[in-house]
Amino acid sequence: MTRPPLPDANPATDEAGATPVLAPEVPVIELRNVSFSFGGHSVLTEVSLSIPKGEIFGVMGMSGCGKSTLLKLIMGLLRPDDGDIRVKGRSIIGLHEPELNEVRRTLGMCFQYAALFDSMTVGENVAFGLYRHTRLSRGEVTDIVADCLDRVGMTGSEALYPSELSGGMRKRVGIARALALQPEVMLYDEPSSGLDPIVASVIDGLILHLADDLGVTSVVVSHHVRNLFAVADRVMMLHDRRVEQVASPEELQANGSEVVRQFVHGRPTGPIIV
Ligand SMILES: Nc1ncnc2c1ncn2[C@@H]1O[C@H](COP(=O)(O)OP(=O)(O)O)[C@@H](O)[C@H]1O
Ligand SMILES: [Mg+2]
Repeated sequence: MTRPPLPDANPATDEAGATPVLAPEVPVIELRNVSFSFGGHSVLTEVSLSIPKGEIFGVMGMSGCGKSTLLKLIMGLLRPDDGDIRVKGRSIIGLHEPELNEVRRTLGMCFQYAALFDSMTVGENVAFGLYRHTRLSRGEVTDIVADCLDRVGMTGSEALYPSELSGGMRKRVGIARALALQPEVMLYDEPSSGLDPIVASVIDGLILHLADDLGVTSVVVSHHVRNLFAVADRVMMLHDRRVEQVASPEELQANGSEVVRQFVHGRPTGPIIV
């Protein structure tokens, strides 16, 4: 089935204003010296990162180190105290809500607890953003919903309610809902948390498959090292409000800092004080 094209939410156009272009060297997501605090309590300090198109970028760190906060900053749901955040080369700092919503349309967010509407069916949950943000016909929406559910291995589950689903199935539906608006970037907050190891691996496979199949850039936030290392091209460790290290999983395993090694091996003693 071919999906009807959705309007490009954030088109960067060429000289003639016709063709969407993004120079390959422009990172899809970029943070430059971003600092953020909640009511005077510093959470992130001078965080910089750059994610090229198609990369699966992992973020790990202790609970409370600011991983979810980082995703909310990228979504423009929180504003940094300092620094710049760019999505496809466009700074989102200072954008007003309508422009921010355009940028958000390019970002598919998968929340930690799937955040499905319990009173809506699976189909209605996946269709929600399409009815809200597009003028597609009912038939077109139905086709897209079926396609997205298909992609996450939930074919034919439209009529079920979230209460009838297992944790892994809810995560899949959350992913399908994020996919419905054809995002260029998928943001996953703790995709494997609360799942048994086998289902967590299935979700990892899905993240990899979607990245390969759709060419989406992915940011995966998790404290499950094994799952993160299985999917990510590069992983960033956040520690003590800062970027501790960014490298491939292999590199982190071979040459991780003391902090990284303690975290990766789950050692109770070391520079990270629990
Ligand atoms: N809405 C909020 N108000 C105040 N503090 C918050 C809020 N949300 C998160 N925090 C604090 O910010 C820090 C980072 O939180 P979070 O990004 O959720 O961590 P993580 O996702 O890595 O577990 C924590 O210390 C947390 O208590
Ligand atoms: Mg979190």
